[in-house]
Amino acid sequence: MSGALLRVEHLSLDYRIGGRTVRALDGADLVLDEGASIGVVGESGSGKSTLGSAVGRLLPRAAHLAGGGVRVAGEPVFDLAPAALRRLRRELLGFVFQDPIASLDPTMRVGRQLRLVLGRRAGDKEVAGHLERVRLDPAVARAYPHQLSGGMAQRVAIAMAMATEPRLLVADEPTAALDSQVREEVLNVVFGLAAEAGAGIVWLSHDLPAVARRCERVAVMYGGRVVEEGPAAEVLGRPAHPYTAALARSAPAAAGPGTRLVPVPGRPPVLTGPAPGCAFAPRCAFAIDRCSRERPALARVGGQTVLCHRAGEPVLTAAREAEVDA
Ligand SMILES: Nc1ncnc2c1ncn2[C@@H]1O[C@H](COP(=O)(O)OP(=O)(O)OP(=O)(O)O)[C@@H](O)[C@H]1O
Ligand code: SF4
Ligand SMILES: [Mg+2]
Repeated sequence: MSGALLRVEHLSLDYRIGGRTVRALDGADLVLDEGASIGVVGESGSGKSTLGSAVGRLLPRAAHLAGGGVRVAGEPVFDLAPAALRRLRRELLGFVFQDPIASLDPTMRVGRQLRLVLGRRAGDKEVAGHLERVRLDPAVARAYPHQLSGGMAQRVAIAMAMATEPRLLVADEPTAALDSQVREEVLNVVFGLAAEAGAGIVWLSHDLPAVARRCERVAVMYGGRVVEEGPAAEVLGRPAHPYTAALARSAPAAAGPGTRLVPVPGRPPVLTGPAPGCAFAPRCAFAIDRCSRERPALARVGGQTVLCHRAGEPVLTAAREAEVDA
């Protein structure tokens, strides 16, 4: 086993509710090195949040492991006893979610919540220091969560997640509910603190342009699998998977005002079990017979890893070149 900070290996995960099963992850793979940042993108329902929560095994009761696993700093997250899992979460992981108010305790002042994370001996000065690191006035320590704006509450949540100096921060759409100016400020805080601390970031997001600006690497999810992964500029600028190409057209990484967005035609799948072939086949302009029958294996195209039977074929390259030139 190499020394990767995070290693998600063929992870399959089902939600079972009543008699119904939804396969949220269908053999997802992801590797992240110490201190690196990766943006995980994909349409709604592609499995981003499930993957992020699985990193700390912070999954709802309805979730069931169906195969594979996750290692954080070599520790097998799904095989750990409860005490070891709690220690791993406390010592190595930090989480920031979309809704900051919901992730804070409404009955407790901000300062007290931070002190609980920091440990009993933390004094006012230390609490103030953590608030200042996320560019908040130390007076915020006396506030209750409902007295904060969305941007302030998200900074408090970030301060709490970073207070224990995690080696890996998982951020699930932490800025989706914020307006654009506050969004940039919050992103500066998250990425600035992580860089300072040498922490790795898994950032789950719909926001392709922001991912392209902030993350070193990008993983594209579709139907519960990572269908393309590689350096951000290559994955978003020269996609090797037909789905990434469609997604990049729908939200170009370098989109300027007036850019025409082309929605990905068709609907994403809702799987009830392992996909028999490529889950993108019904929407893919390049699908061939075997696509709906055989699951694609990982292939390398340039610096990218791609799950596509036709990866690297001239027909895909030609389509990609035509778009880059257009
Ligand atoms: N708690 C749950 N119970 C049942 N099904 C769930 C639950 N959470 C997610 N799912 C289903 O699992 C699949 C993956 O969902 P997930 O939330 O991981 O996707 P996502 O990429 O984060 O989507 P979004 O962009 O909307 O946040 C979807 O089909 C979703 O409906
Ligand atoms: S495996 Fe086939 S259907 Fe899937 S993306 Fe590649 S060409 Fe399209
Ligand atoms: Mg989500």
